[in-house]
Amino acid sequence: MNDTPQRILLGVSGGIAAYKAADLVRRLRERGAQVRVVLTENAERFVTALTFQALSGEPVRTSLWDSAAEASMGHIELARWAQRVLIAPASADLIARLAQGQADDLLTTLCLATEAPLFLAPAMNRVMWEHAAVQANLDTLVARGATVLGPDEGGQACGETGAGRMWEPAAIAAAALAPAPDPAAAAVLAGRNLLLTAGPTVEDLDPVRYLGNRSSGRMGYAIAAEAQRLGMRVTLVSGPVNLPAPAGVERIAVRSAEQMREAVTGRVSGADLFIATAAVADFRPRQASRDKIKKRGDGGLVLELVQNPDILAEVAARQERPFVVGFAAETCDVERYALDKLERKRLDLIAANRVGEEGTGFDADANALTVLWPGGRQEIGRADKAQVARELLSLIAQRLQARP
Ligand code: CTP
Repeated sequence: MNDTPQRILLGVSGGIAAYKAADLVRRLRERGAQVRVVLTENAERFVTALTFQALSGEPVRTSLWDSAAEASMGHIELARWAQRVLIAPASADLIARLAQGQADDLLTTLCLATEAPLFLAPAMNRVMWEHAAVQANLDTLVARGATVLGPDEGGQACGETGAGRMWEPAAIAAAALAPAPDPAAAAVLAGRNLLLTAGPTVEDLDPVRYLGNRSSGRMGYAIAAEAQRLGMRVTLVSGPVNLPAPAGVERIAVRSAEQMREAVTGRVSGADLFIATAAVADFRPRQASRDKIKKRGDGGLVLELVQNPDILAEVAARQERPFVVGFAAETCDVERYALDKLERKRLDLIAANRVGEEGTGFDADANALTVLWPGGRQEIGRADKAQVARELLSLIAQRLQARP
């Protein structure tokens, strides 16, 4: 992370998640940022300017019509001051006004008057979030270069459960202060097609039970989001996970290894890059029972399993193939097993990580990778998964360019 403080303009719009924006100011400042806050008129119904002034140590602006501040064209000065504009929470109304290019209050005016990159952390009821109007407005903003952070799935203030909950402040702060996309990687990858698998696959035993694994999908989703930021067109074939699709990414939801294979096979011919992060079940029951399997008198049950197709190896074996990247999750001898997979599956690159340790790997926030390719290797040190994804994509871009 850059240790010079970054100048963040935090816009808070009207929604119950505005209370979390107070904590967000703390998290941004902990990371060395200088924060100036603008509240919309509706935000002031939920939180007060005084709270944000105390937490940010800076004056808070709430209106375009503040004659003292505007005596020296305060809104233009503020728009120039900002190195990044972060709006958290971003309500459906604010997103709509930004998509329209309106300038009917201080915050929307600032967004038009600044050259700083825009980050949005949406928060709203799940039905609003899924509404085609909201999604279309976000697509418009993403196409103009905005970065959308979240939302999360989970319990909402309205009592419902689903996607629409604002990301936690620590995650927003980390993403909003993340370095700008690597220009060298963007030069190679922008406009290219990425096909990516992520999450677990689940193999049904009967209508209520399945064989699964502990993959959360977070590494794959982080790569999808970072690739999108680099300008790639991303198709994410995902097993069942508790994560919303990153903005601007096309997600194909699947359940079993066979469904994942079918989704990949149907799309791989247009891909320039294929990254297999999914934890694909190696085996599936020979036949899923139509009815729930009942206990028997002797207590035991023998399951007959058959091997699943190896999606990664199949893609690598194609005549016209994209640049192929595999993952290897190992509990020991990481490098030896990964090298073996690199050669056996004829991959262009493999990213190996150790699992089964606290704090990295499956279902953890952080990860560390050993990246291997024919004739080379590089370590990606322990960092949050977004940072690991950025470094991995930079490396892939270098290898892709070096490919004969
Ligand atoms: N993979 C795949 N299809 C499968 C199995 C794995 O595409 N049926 C991909 C994974 O997405 C990952 C890599 O292959 O990129 C992992 O290789 P794999 O041989 O499955 O690793 P392990 O299962 O850990 O191998 P082993 O059982 O030999 O340890």
